[in-house]
Amino acid sequence: MTQLLQGRVAVITGGAAGFGLVSAEKFVAHGAKVVIADIDAEAGRTAQERLGDAVRFVQTDVRKESDLREAVNAAVTHFGGLDVMYHNAGTVGTPAGIEEMAVEQWNAAMDMLLTASMLAVKVSVEPMKARGGGSIILTSSGAGVRLGGSGPLAYSTAKSAVLMLGQHSALKLGKHRIRVNTIVPGAFRTALWDKHALGSGMLAENKFALMQPLPIEGNPRYIADAALFLASDMSEFVTGVILPVDGGLTLHRNSHASIEG
Ligand SMILES: NC(=O)c1ccc[n+]([C@@H]2O[C@H](COP(=O)([O-])OP(=O)(O)OC[C@H]3O[C@@H](n4cnc5c(N)ncnc54)[C@H](O)[C@@H]3O)[C@@H](O)[C@H]2O)c1
Repeated sequence: MTQLLQGRVAVITGGAAGFGLVSAEKFVAHGAKVVIADIDAEAGRTAQERLGDAVRFVQTDVRKESDLREAVNAAVTHFGGLDVMYHNAGTVGTPAGIEEMAVEQWNAAMDMLLTASMLAVKVSVEPMKARGGGSIILTSSGAGVRLGGSGPLAYSTAKSAVLMLGQHSALKLGKHRIRVNTIVPGAFRTALWDKHALGSGMLAENKFALMQPLPIEGNPRYIADAALFLASDMSEFVTGVILPVDGGLTLHRNSHASIEG
């Protein structure tokens, strides 16, 4: 197998579960060293044990700049540098609509989804400059792209702002050969939805495969494949891209399958 990330070092936030874990496995299979930066210590340690010496777990709360810096420092200290920042950690956050939204709930969602994304870009710039470039991958959502999308208000708004963060950063960081691209996942059956009442009905009714034009159930490996492409030299000339990986969900969402918030 061609190893697309041989000699590369990546930080994957939220790498202890869901898309992040499948991506960590894929990156390692392609020769990368990976720092898993996740708030869940138990899942992170389990992942590190299972994936071996190529992985180091650093307990990280992505809402804290100092934690993100520690994760990046671990990449530099233990593996020699930083080539890839795959910022994937996310939670659904408050289901509140506009009339009942408390400022605290709103700010908590923004901290988790938007400010953390900005910080992930910020802390990656210096170490990537030192390497002569790098690849930053951000995570939006179909809910942040499509008007009247399939997520709650604060989540959709933050994920929409992540798209601009990615493109603005790509514009400014190109001169340093730092590429910034954003993955837009559609609907996938992960713990993200298990943890949240909004998705539980969808999961119970097994509707995920019916949401989008392609009648295929989303598999986290589709996201990992996109992340591998954006992390590797396969996408050497690609920056500022918003890449839906969604079976066409952002083109059309079937009306009988809704998780509105
Ligand atoms: N699953 C979907 O259908 C879907 C759709 C669109 C977008 N997304 C986005 O994809 C990303 C990954 O989602 P997933 O489905 O793999 O979720 P998941 O719940 O399976 O995994 C998320 C991981 O992030 C970690 N995490 C949570 N809060 C954290 C924090 N403060 N600091 C560090 N780590 C933290 C969790 O411990 C977990 O390991 C998220 O940004 C999510 O918004 C998911």
